[in-house]
Amino acid sequence: MAGKMKVGVLISGRGSNLKSLLEACAAPGFPAEIVTVLSNQPGAGGLDHARAAGVAAAVVDHKAYDGRAAFEAALTTALEDAAVELVCLAGFLRVVTPAFVRHWQGRMINIHPSLLPLFPGLDTHARALAAGVKLHGCSVHYVSEEVDGGAIVGQAAVPVLAGDDPDSLAARVLAAEHRLYPACLRLVADGRARLVDGKVEISLDCDGAAQIFNPPLRP
Ligand code: GAR
Repeated sequence: MAGKMKVGVLISGRGSNLKSLLEACAAPGFPAEIVTVLSNQPGAGGLDHARAAGVAAAVVDHKAYDGRAAFEAALTTALEDAAVELVCLAGFLRVVTPAFVRHWQGRMINIHPSLLPLFPGLDTHARALAAGVKLHGCSVHYVSEEVDGGAIVGQAAVPVLAGDDPDSLAARVLAAEHRLYPACLRLVADGRARLVDGKVEISLDCDGAAQIFNPPLRP
């Protein structure tokens, strides 16, 4: 078997998705390994998850750089010094420039808390509630120059329940994120998810008849 895909994770905060990726990568036979974690925020809690897992973690503080290009050049240098083959954005809350996206084109994925292309951008849970959707969720996608607009690798749906507020909905989506991101990383790293003509093709046996209804159907 070829070696594990070397992954760099970019974070800005709590890092619960990073933690789920670290746990997945620790399993024997998982096709990816996290070789570096970079945070643009010095106090990011996720740095502790990396260190606890024995993974190199560093701060690349955007405030220390004169402009986005210099900040992103420092990120790319750190990632390339670690021989990173795939970048995973996991709650990385800086918009990246087209130049950075082009540099990592086809080699950078992100998790976003909505069923894209619905609700790109911020405040996704409040916007889902305001729209009255009955299914909400999360998406893992390749990063393209359009914000939250790249090819979708995978999605997970959760029901919107009576009485939900943005926090309760966010918690339900986050639990789905923690399952979806490792599953998508596995597919990308072992070559079963491939970018073809701007879309992701997946080689995987799935139940094509499976359907989810919310509200549930009653006979
Ligand atoms: C996650 O919900 C992730 O989907 C979201 O930030 C949170 C980070 O949580 N990302 C975005 O909104 C990107 N636009 P975490 O630090 O605990 O992984």
